[in-house]
Amino acid sequence: MGRAYAPYSRFPVGVAGIVDDGRIVVGCNVENAAYGVGLCAECGLVSELHATGGGKLVAVSCVGRDGEPLMPCGRCRQLLWENGTPETLLLTPEGVLPMRDVLPQAFGPDNLAIAGPLPG
Ligand code: THU
Repeated sequence: MGRAYAPYSRFPVGVAGIVDDGRIVVGCNVENAAYGVGLCAECGLVSELHATGGGKLVAVSCVGRDGEPLMPCGRCRQLLWENGTPETLLLTPEGVLPMRDVLPQAFGPDNLAIAGPLPG
């Protein structure tokens, strides 16, 4: 969080995750003068996950400006879903919860597989 670039919202965010091989990956939000293209902290985390060898997240902790646990936004829950498992643990303001509870009935790769080939 201390390295976040958040001059517009003044809401720095930091996130850290444990990978299934023991690695720790981190991210911070990076905003932009074109506000809509700002990156959430979780985007950086997922990028570091892949850039350093891939794997699945087993636990994630995200904090906001006050240093307290921050619930990842909906888009970022979707990012975490695809890069973890339904059992991946998330530290939330309501305690530690598995991803299956914070993104119920999630859309994911399985949905694409079930869809099969395009019609026609
Ligand atoms: N933000 C994150 O980095 N992650 C979240 O899950 C929620 C929001 C950032 C985006 C923006 O830079 C700032 O927090 C205020 O919305």
